[in-house]
Amino acid sequence: MKSEVLVTGSGGLIGSKFVQTIGNQYNCTSLEVSHPTHPVDITNYEQLLPAIQKSAATHLVHFAAYTDVTGAWQQTGDKNGSAYRVNVLGTENVVKACEETQKHLIHISTAYVFDGQKEGLYLEDDLMRPIEWYGETKAKAEEVVMKSRIPWTILRIDQPFRQDPFTKLDIVHAIAHQLQQHTLPPQFADHFFGPTIIEDLVRVIVWVLRTNTTGLYHASSGESWNNFDFAKQIAQLLDNNYQVEAGKLKDYLQTARRPYQQNTALDNHKLASLLDFKLLTVKEALKAVDFGAPSFDRET
Ligand SMILES: NC(=O)c1ccc[n+]([C@@H]2O[C@H](COP(=O)([O-])OP(=O)(O)OC[C@H]3O[C@@H](n4cnc5c(N)ncnc54)[C@H](OP(=O)(O)O)[C@@H]3O)[C@@H](O)[C@H]2O)c1
Repeated sequence: MKSEVLVTGSGGLIGSKFVQTIGNQYNCTSLEVSHPTHPVDITNYEQLLPAIQKSAATHLVHFAAYTDVTGAWQQTGDKNGSAYRVNVLGTENVVKACEETQKHLIHISTAYVFDGQKEGLYLEDDLMRPIEWYGETKAKAEEVVMKSRIPWTILRIDQPFRQDPFTKLDIVHAIAHQLQQHTLPPQFADHFFGPTIIEDLVRVIVWVLRTNTTGLYHASSGESWNNFDFAKQIAQLLDNNYQVEAGKLKDYLQTARRPYQQNTALDNHKLASLLDFKLLTVKEALKAVDFGAPSFDRET
């Protein structure tokens, strides 16, 4: 018999890949805010608790979040705004309901909890010091999870991409799309990030489900890329002689309206040393990317 898993945010970029991939191994119960007949809004405890109580799942994977970083920045300081409500109050509710029902919580977090000033890769025990509201709400959510009375696993990621196209463009599909449209702006050579391969993140979550590993882990590729090299790599794969122009985050910041972390690359040794499988390299994962449109948009 298949084990059950509860999932929030199963309609999103990452959650949808998770439920699609593990469907043959697990019965996923999705708690969906947009469900036409049984919506579950994580900011509404009265909706959330019964939905969790009904399930025999031992684990809940919490992907749901307000993820629009610029939108969040426009809400800075507003605890009634959707970013704070979903990311902090929603996570508080998820934690409370998991405590009530004794479920292991797997919480997805972000490298934006850091200030981006570090030279080199961020470690799990580096201090959280967010510089914008999205990062601040996600850092607060982590604190809520860490203080909980249930088994918890926090997986931090950065710039996730998946191999198949999805309606919300990830960084790889966004770059490919802009190259194809000849609208790619100059790519920062002085901005560093740690791409996360969503297919590998799914394998990591399944490993947590299997091993009940708890704690805080960086679940990215463990690599550091700058935007210019990353875009050149994608251009090469598209093989159409696309040219990528170099730009500088430092120049962009002179006019940018919101703060940007200069470096969000994550060290993943803590996690990789425990895993019983090998994570892909970014180059390996990029080679397997389908650069077409999402399947339901394609002509048959
Ligand atoms: N994407 C990134 O670049 C990135 C980077 C680092 C970390 N992360 C983290 O990874 C996780 C997944 O991100 P993602 O990119 O897959 O997100 P996404 O595509 O924006 O999807 C967010 C999901 O959360 C759901 N949701 C929003 N408000 C909700 C509410 N009040 N109650 C219940 N569900 C709600 C959405 O439902 P509807 O679609 O029905 O509204 C959607 O399914 C998040 O925790 C995010 O912080 C993402």
